[in-house]
Amino acid sequence: MTQEPQREQWGTRAGFLMAAIGSAIGLGNIWRFPAVTYENGGGAFMVPYLLALLTAGIPLLILEYTIGRRYRSSPPGALRQLSRPAEAIGWWQVAICFVVATYYAAILAWAVRYVGFSFDQSWGDDPEGFLMGDFLKVSDSPGEISTFVPGVVWPLIAVWLVVLAILILGVRRGIERANTVFIPLLVVFFLILVVRALTLDGADLGLDALFAPDWGALGDGGVWVAAYGQIFFSLSVGFGIMITYASYLRRKSDLTGSALVAGFANSSFEILAGVAVFATLGFMAAESGLAVSEVTSSGVGLAFVAFPQIISEMPMGAFFGVLFFGSLVLAGLTSLISIVQVIVATVEDRMGLRRVPAVLAVCGAVAVVSTVLFSSDSGLHFLDVSDHFINQYGIVLAGLALVITVSWGLRRLPALQRHADATSAVPLRIWWRICLGVITPLVLIWMMVDSLTDEFDENYAGYDTSFLLWSGWGVAAAALVVGVLLSLVRWRRNPASSEDAEDTEDTQDTQDSTARRSS
Ligand code: ALA
Repeated sequence: MTQEPQREQWGTRAGFLMAAIGSAIGLGNIWRFPAVTYENGGGAFMVPYLLALLTAGIPLLILEYTIGRRYRSSPPGALRQLSRPAEAIGWWQVAICFVVATYYAAILAWAVRYVGFSFDQSWGDDPEGFLMGDFLKVSDSPGEISTFVPGVVWPLIAVWLVVLAILILGVRRGIERANTVFIPLLVVFFLILVVRALTLDGADLGLDALFAPDWGALGDGGVWVAAYGQIFFSLSVGFGIMITYASYLRRKSDLTGSALVAGFANSSFEILAGVAVFATLGFMAAESGLAVSEVTSSGVGLAFVAFPQIISEMPMGAFFGVLFFGSLVLAGLTSLISIVQVIVATVEDRMGLRRVPAVLAVCGAVAVVSTVLFSSDSGLHFLDVSDHFINQYGIVLAGLALVITVSWGLRRLPALQRHADATSAVPLRIWWRICLGVITPLVLIWMMVDSLTDEFDENYAGYDTSFLLWSGWGVAAAALVVGVLLSLVRWRRNPASSEDAEDTEDTQDTQDSTARRSS
């Protein structure tokens, strides 16, 4: 009998949960969710949001956990064992992680600098001019690199050194320990922020604006699309992260319960972030005499323009600034680690590299691309466009391909359900198969059609078609093509397509689950 190579394992279930929650809670929770909720019906958005969580987010999380734990490999190897052609989806996810990691690290580097800027409010009276001019030196010609910005280069290198140090220590000593420290710290930071935000004058104006339900919005298809899109990005499904993290689980670990805990923890944090951000925007509206709608922005504008302005206006602004940007750094770092780990695990699993050379090679390569593109004067434009296209036509599309392949193509949902049920406290039953086999694929196909229609109606954010073609469509298409090409390579370690082995395992799973129920 051949010995399976030793695979690292999480130390404890709590450690795995911290890492899974750390991956889910990220920049998407803090700056994306509040604005998406506000723009899509306020309080009424909670209806599609919760439905998206229950019908797509959590079922997909369970699917990814089950595939990872069962095949004990990073996405290409795990999906190859499901079926040889499915390996391409795994490599596609690895390529997506490469792209996302390059710009995600850049946002973290900005947040690191803004922790420092908060002390003396370096942005002065004009946070927007400071961000675009003094700090990022944004060029007027998107795509043309004429200079590098040293103020971004060094924090970016620092971010990569921290990621490298954590990943070199491995799954248990590095990722698990880092999350066990960073996530409780993030929760403490954020609770202080929420209390401070709620005690500001005008906080009620912001909360009214956020949660006042516009029930009419539920008749708008775009609102439902936004809810599913938010859940995907926020839960980190579709990137292959959860397949990778679950590949380090013990054979008998609970899958369904863990997915429920991770899914609800992520959404609770997201709603807390909405409360903190909008209470603060309410304060700004009250101070400036404007309506909340006039002070609301999303993404880069919210974190690096609106918040600095508010920090300058509030009592003890420096303290608030350090907490806010410190939270962004902690939330983003734990997500970035998980994204890079997908690539590291793949290099280890398929090329047979040991952990240290794999981490050095992967972090080195991603850090170089990240620094060259995102510390340049065109960095903000590259970031804006690549983020939009890789999310819509990378993460969501890869998630759709995975669901359709597993449920419609290979019809493996019943076998995977038996595998999950064999060790989980909450049995999955038929609803899981209906969600993944019917609701999720149909909603995702609808989302694709809807966003493609928008894309062809109007150029994204008004950019030139040629710039969008190479930095947006080109990047998303390249991730797919690279994924397919890498799946054709003969790697040093190629796990066999294990449909035969699965049948044996299915029988074992069924016996296990019967034994559990009768005991
Ligand atoms: N789930 C991570 C986020 O929300 C990627 O930012």
